[in-house]
Amino acid sequence: MHIILTGTGLVGAIALDAMLNDEAIDKITIVSRKPVPQAEGQAKVTVIVQKDLAVYSDEILEKLKGAHGCIWTAGPPLMAVTRQEYEYAHIELPVIAAKIFATLNDKFNFVYVSHDGCHDARAVWIFDVKARAEERLFQLHHDTSKRLTIKTKGGIEEEEALPSLVLYCIRPALIDYSQHEAIKPWLKPLPLAKKWTNGVILPLYRFLGLTSILGSSEELGQAMKDLVICDGQDVDVAGASPEGRCMGAVGMRNWTKERDDKMKDMTVYKQQEATAAA
Ligand SMILES: NC(=O)c1ccc[n+]([C@@H]2O[C@H](COP(=O)([O-])OP(=O)(O)OC[C@H]3O[C@@H](n4cnc5c(N)ncnc54)[C@H](OP(=O)(O)O)[C@@H]3O)[C@@H](O)[C@H]2O)c1
Repeated sequence: MHIILTGTGLVGAIALDAMLNDEAIDKITIVSRKPVPQAEGQAKVTVIVQKDLAVYSDEILEKLKGAHGCIWTAGPPLMAVTRQEYEYAHIELPVIAAKIFATLNDKFNFVYVSHDGCHDARAVWIFDVKARAEERLFQLHHDTSKRLTIKTKGGIEEEEALPSLVLYCIRPALIDYSQHEAIKPWLKPLPLAKKWTNGVILPLYRFLGLTSILGSSEELGQAMKDLVICDGQDVDVAGASPEGRCMGAVGMRNWTKERDDKMKDMTVYKQQEATAAA
């Protein structure tokens, strides 16, 4: 199974680590603005370096054709760009890519990395951006009954659903990667705001057991990887969103506990069992 990955920061490193360790995935194509040291020497990974993640030449589309899905983690932190660039990168870019990637296969799983609580805290601009991104992406999801109620001020432009597009949103908040040794060599130096979050907020939440928005990087990697390889079913665990297409920290924790059973129904694992039995 061929999976596309964008973004090679913390969440991208977590996604790549999870996919490298799953035999169901035999090909990973990373579309990145820069070379990816974590991918070096990994036989199943190809890196396509290109500046603009919105533009795909025929030659590149040929290389991506047949992919089963994409984990979209690309998205700058607020302090790195202007507000306009931030909105473009978190909303327009994945919408453009989802439309293009939907042409690669009859069914294409697009796993967008959003943020926990983004619909409940829209007064905070960065959460509103993620909520708007989800509203836009949900319009493209093949099943129109799953569309989110539009709460964007002034509404959003209505778009046609894409019959091949299968959307999931993964919503981490505080990501605890303190025990995740495999990704540590590949992480870039943290900006000041992230150092504060990692050095003070995260240990405090961990100490106090405030786990509603705190999740481990291993759970996040597992959830992103399982959703991108699955057959597109709704997620049915406590803490998943009501329409069954999104998981935040609590949903991911429950998914990790129950996924062994739930993934048995997925075609990819049935095929593996059949091959092993033959
Ligand atoms: N980290 C968290 O705690 C956390 C929590 C909740 C949600 N999220 C969400 O998860 C996603 C990834 O976060 P992260 O922590 O992995 O971020 P990160 O470490 O800052 O990495 C960001 C990635 O996005 C790429 N990128 C930045 N601007 C881009 C642009 N204009 N076009 C294309 N690619 C661009 C970067 O590429 P270059 O290397 O080329 O710059 C990098 O690969 C974001 O959407 C974020 O909102 C993160």
